Amino acid sequence: MNKISVIGAGNVGATCANVIAQKDLANEVVLLDIKEGLAEGKALDIWQSSSINHFDTRVVGSTNDYEKTKGSGIIVITSGIPRKPGMSRDDLIKTNANIVKEVTEKAIKFSPDAIIIVVSNPLDVMTYAAYQAANIDANKVFGMAGILDTGRFKAFLASELDVSPSDINAMLMGGHGDTMVPLPRYTTVSGIPVTELLAEDVIERIVERTRKGGGELVGLMGTSAWYAPGAAVAEMVEAIVDNQRRILPVCAFLDGEYEQENLYLGVPVKLGTNGVEEIIEIKLNNEENELLQTSAESVKKVMKVLDDMKLFGE
Ligand code: LAC
Repeated sequence: MNKISVIGAGNVGATCANVIAQKDLANEVVLLDIKEGLAEGKALDIWQSSSINHFDTRVVGSTNDYEKTKGSGIIVITSGIPRKPGMSRDDLIKTNANIVKEVTEKAIKFSPDAIIIVVSNPLDVMTYAAYQAANIDANKVFGMAGILDTGRFKAFLASELDVSPSDINAMLMGGHGDTMVPLPRYTTVSGIPVTELLAEDVIERIVERTRKGGGELVGLMGTSAWYAPGAAVAEMVEAIVDNQRRILPVCAFLDGEYEQENLYLGVPVKLGTNGVEEIIEIKLNNEENELLQTSAESVKKVMKVLDDMKLFGE
């Protein structure tokens, strides 16, 4: 791919640009931020690691000049304020909705054919805001959360089992919040159902830790995570750039799937050149489905706050 732009040069945006560059997923990565010099500085720092880490991707920074992002194939939106201790992701909505709207409108103007990946929180609702602001097909606007959340789930399982995290396959659905729905029934270790390897109460403890995984890090660091979020976005970018058609948990637009309409929510999708190529509808048992519907309801409550802001005309 020619060009990928990452909007927001905070910890998540810069890490994401760094991983994309290290994987040589594009000829050029443009990192953009409103803070004078920040994106240029971080881009220069990453570019100076190119001969050490052996990549060719040009990394350039820009202070709010969207012209530099022109012709991007993918735009990653990380802009917005992160969580502080005691805040939920939902507390960020009023500030971040305005920011996400503005940056999406500016970015899509210069790259009308781009795919948009949203990372800003509250994730599910900010993805919807970007979709409205971009006014492009829903398969080309989606959010990163599930890969991060399953990444946490897999890390905890790998530690508990003392096995390679790479051998763990997991699915997780729902909103990017404490109601997210890790699915042990769809989690395997080299094909062996995890339910065969760990007792129910141990799995439940890990599921609960996963649900609160972001908060655990905010508590430790005073701000939200970036290494795993940045890497998770890069995994999505790779699936798109190489048309890998990977099945990954993604925050996608639902139009009747899983009993939901006109809502962005985490579901398994097939990810390729066109973005969301397909939404995979897996069979959920009653308990799993109830958890998913509860998660959808909690996203809808935050959606109502966005709707009430009336940022977008009817
Ligand atoms: C987290 C933030 C990035 O889950 O949403 O760490």
